[in-house]
Amino acid sequence: MGALTLRLPSLTSLSSAAAAAALPRYHFCRQLCAPLRSVSAAKFSVQSSTVEKEIAATPPEIEPASLLPRLQLEKDRVITPRSQDFNAWYLDIIAKAELADYGPVRGTMVIRPYGYAIWEAIQDYLNVKFKETGHSNMYFPQFIPYSFIEKEASHVEGFSPELALVTVGGGKELEEKLVVRPTSETIVNHMFTQWINSYRDLPLMINQWANVTRWEMRTKPFVRTLEFLWQEGHTAHASLEEAEEEALQMIDVYTKFAYEQAAIPVVVGRKSKVETFAGASKTYTIEAMMGDRKALQAGTSHNLGQNFSRAFGTQFMDENGERQHVWQTSWAISTRFIGGIIMTHGDDAGLMLPPNLAPIQVVVVPIWKKADEKAGVLGASSSVKETLQAAGIKVKLDDAEQRTPGWKFNFWEMKGVPLRIEIGPRDVSNGSVVVCRRDIPGKQGKVFGISMESSSLVAYVKGKLDEVQSSLLENAKSFRDSNIVDVRSYSELKEAIAQGKWARGPWSASDTEELKVKEETGATIRCFPFEQPEGAKKCLMTGNPADEVAIFAKSY
Ligand SMILES: *[C@@H]1O[C@H](CO)[C@@H](O)[C@H](O)[C@H]1NC(C)=O
Ligand SMILES: *[C@@H]1O[C@H](CO)[C@@H](O)[C@H](O)[C@H]1NC(C)=O
Ligand SMILES: *[C@@H]1O[C@H](CO)[C@@H](O)[C@H](O)[C@H]1NC(C)=O
Repeated sequence: MGALTLRLPSLTSLSSAAAAAALPRYHFCRQLCAPLRSVSAAKFSVQSSTVEKEIAATPPEIEPASLLPRLQLEKDRVITPRSQDFNAWYLDIIAKAELADYGPVRGTMVIRPYGYAIWEAIQDYLNVKFKETGHSNMYFPQFIPYSFIEKEASHVEGFSPELALVTVGGGKELEEKLVVRPTSETIVNHMFTQWINSYRDLPLMINQWANVTRWEMRTKPFVRTLEFLWQEGHTAHASLEEAEEEALQMIDVYTKFAYEQAAIPVVVGRKSKVETFAGASKTYTIEAMMGDRKALQAGTSHNLGQNFSRAFGTQFMDENGERQHVWQTSWAISTRFIGGIIMTHGDDAGLMLPPNLAPIQVVVVPIWKKADEKAGVLGASSSVKETLQAAGIKVKLDDAEQRTPGWKFNFWEMKGVPLRIEIGPRDVSNGSVVVCRRDIPGKQGKVFGISMESSSLVAYVKGKLDEVQSSLLENAKSFRDSNIVDVRSYSELKEAIAQGKWARGPWSASDTEELKVKEETGATIRCFPFEQPEGAKKCLMTGNPADEVAIFAKSY
């Protein structure tokens, strides 16, 4: 696991899937372009050592106990406690909640239906927002001529990318190697150059949902994989101001998405010069605090200025008849965000999903003991299911007979389903149900005697889902706020970072000093937050006047 952090410091920005929308930091070392290495059998480099562990489960709290068949201790559902080993906990959740599995090629991930459904919920929300803000979806090919990448590389120095190359096609050696899309700026600009002639063609605002490939050496499901899914927005404008407005608009879309849908209280801000993509004039970011208090860069939006349009000759005739290079932006969110949801809300019982993105918002568990109770309980359960479904609530009825109710409680808790409805014979005769919240364990989260009558049940369930949604956000907010320390000096900063917290303090020091902080503490400037304290400030490093506070933290 130590190896996990090895290359992160030097690749903070590049290695972030989400951040890579404007990835002009190519530096193509020749070795990487040699024929692809054969792939070893080793899969993800950070495999859980705890997968095979067998410990008897603590019996879950079940009520009313008399109604339940005896709970069988499940040996295969144990999740490593979060406090004991955060990484093992994370991998256990991914395996046991059936979010993803390892693909046969090292570093690849199979996204399983439950994990994919979360991605679809993310897509459904963002697609609407992208269209509302004037973007159209389209699709660019996955294969990019190698020369395109070189063209861009000649303009930017930076990191060596993890390129996958195709050298043979249809059994023949190709005349020109093809790159499997690591990001699309080059091919986008190649096409924009042909489509843009005058100011009337601007702004050009597109988005594509696609998969991208990076030959990453250190991988972690969702957070960093060889191939991942994302959306990349690309826009071209007639002026710097318009591009800036667009970059800000899209980071705002991401921020609202994080708060309102994912219940993740991200800190939104601007990257430092060191952390800005080479080639971009500004990078905006949303930074999320994970349960281990490391930062996750969860989405970025770049004002690219004219760097790409200069490299690709993307010009337009302005209103005065003069040729100018277009001003561009790009922005991305990826499947990495799912990792962020897991690491923000999950607990020792498993995943905890915000209702707005949960593939299943309510699970109905029928409980009966005697054969003559079965029909009544099952009948009531399916009518409750239909009532909720008709009201647009995502509901699942778990009427499988091979599993005990206790097993089902554990299982759906582990899958992070926000609400559980229990229906037993007594509930049926009383015309009511029991409703349990995933985010409040035990008796406190459980309410008896909720009427089955359609309109009141629907209203109750919707209200509870809203409560869970906002309570997840509130909890994450207070966790975040209690782990950000205001610092005035470098020694205070070091102390905060050593305690695993985020440090926020005035900063106007040089890039060299920023790199020194990184070397000495492992923390980087996550951003200069948009929200700034009032008043005069003195740089924590130099004591010189500072305009802004910066947030420092260790990150994924
Ligand atoms: C990933 O790429 C392949 C090959 O281009 C394509 O068939 C597939 O639809 C892509 N998947 C997504 C989710 O974009
Ligand atoms: C990108 O453009 C900015 C001006 O907008 C310039 O200062 C910078 O040098 C350019 N970067 C590269 C790598 O071309
Ligand atoms: C029976 O249902 C009513 C609502 O319909 C509720 O107020 C009451 O608490 C329920 N009783 C039990 C024992 O669940």
